[in-house]
Amino acid sequence: MTFDLKQHLAARTESVEAVLDRALSGTASHGETARPPRLVAAMRHGALNGGKRLRPILVWETASLFGRSDDGVVRAACALELIHCYSLVHDDLPAMDDDDLRRGQPTVHKAFDEATAILAGDALLTLAFDVIAEDAVHHDAAIRLRLSRDLARAAGVGGMAGGQMLDLESEHRPRTEADIRLLQSMKTGALLRYACRAGALLADAPTADVDRLTRFGEVIGLAFQLADDLLDVEASPEAAGKATGKDADAGKATLVGLWGVEKTRGELACLREEAAALLAPYGDRADILGALAGFIVSRTS
Ligand code: IPE
Ligand code: IPE
Ligand code: MG
Ligand code: MG
Ligand code: MG
Repeated sequence: MTFDLKQHLAARTESVEAVLDRALSGTASHGETARPPRLVAAMRHGALNGGKRLRPILVWETASLFGRSDDGVVRAACALELIHCYSLVHDDLPAMDDDDLRRGQPTVHKAFDEATAILAGDALLTLAFDVIAEDAVHHDAAIRLRLSRDLARAAGVGGMAGGQMLDLESEHRPRTEADIRLLQSMKTGALLRYACRAGALLADAPTADVDRLTRFGEVIGLAFQLADDLLDVEASPEAAGKATGKDADAGKATLVGLWGVEKTRGELACLREEAAALLAPYGDRADILGALAGFIVSRTS
C-alpha cells in the first residue's frame, strides 16, 4: 500500500485540533480563577476555525525526522499554533489590516467586537506559554526553557510583532528589496523558522541538524510569504478564505509588488530547490517535509 500523504496530514491536523480544543476548554486550569465564557468563545473562534495547521505540522514532522513523535511534541506544536492564531486575530483588527473574513468566516472582531478580539489575542498568546511549559513537552526542563525563550523571541519585538510593525511602517512608502526581506523574515519567517528549529530541539537532534532545519525553516518562511502575497494578487476570496487584492491598495511593501508575478514565481522555484537540497542528507525520511515545502510553494489557499 502506498503512503497516503493527505490522510497522514488529516490525522495530524485532527490530533493538533484535539489538543487545542482541550487547551481552550471553558474550565479554569489549576491556578486560574475563572474563564469568562465570552472570552473563551472568542478564543475558540480564532483558533478552532479551520486553519491549515502548517506550523504545528512542521514542528511535528521535524521532530519525527529525528525520531520523536509523542504527545509532548504535539503540545509544543500547539503552543506555536496558538501564537499564530493570536497574530491573525490582531492582524485583522480595524487598526491593522481591517479584514472581515478569515478562514472563510467572519474575523473575531466581526463575530464578537474589537475589545473582545484584542483580549482573545492577548489570552491566546499567553496560553501558548502555559502549554509549552508543560512537563510532557520535554523531560529536561532546560530544553523546555530554551523552547519557551526561543518562542518568545520568534513571536515578539524582534520577531513576528516587530515584523508587523515594519509592515505597517512600510505602507505607502518606497521600500528596497532588503527592507522587504527583513520585514518578511520577521512577520512571517520567524514563526516558520521556529517551527522547524523547535522540532529538531524537541528530538535532541545534533547541533548541525538543528542548524540545517533552522535554515530550512527560513527558506520555507520566505516562500510562504511570497506565496501569500501572490495569493493576494491572484486568488479569489472564496479560494483564499480571506479578502484578496488588498495589498496593493493598502500600499503594502511586498516582493510581488517590487518584482511582479513572473519573477516571484521564479524565486519560489529556486526556494523550493534550496529547501530540497537542505533535506537531501536525510533521504526519503524527509519526504513529508519535502512535500510540505512543495505545498507551501504552490499553495492555493
Ligand atoms: C496566514 O497564515 C498569515 C500569514 C502569515 C501570511 P496561514 O496561511 O498559515 O493561515 P492559516 O492558519 O492556514 O489560516
Ligand atoms: C500577516 O501577514 C502576518 C502575521 C503576522 C499575521 P498578512 O497580513 O499578509 O496575512 P494575511 O494575508 O492577512 O493572512
Ligand atoms: Mg498584515
Ligand atoms: Mg493581513
Ligand atoms: Mg497577506
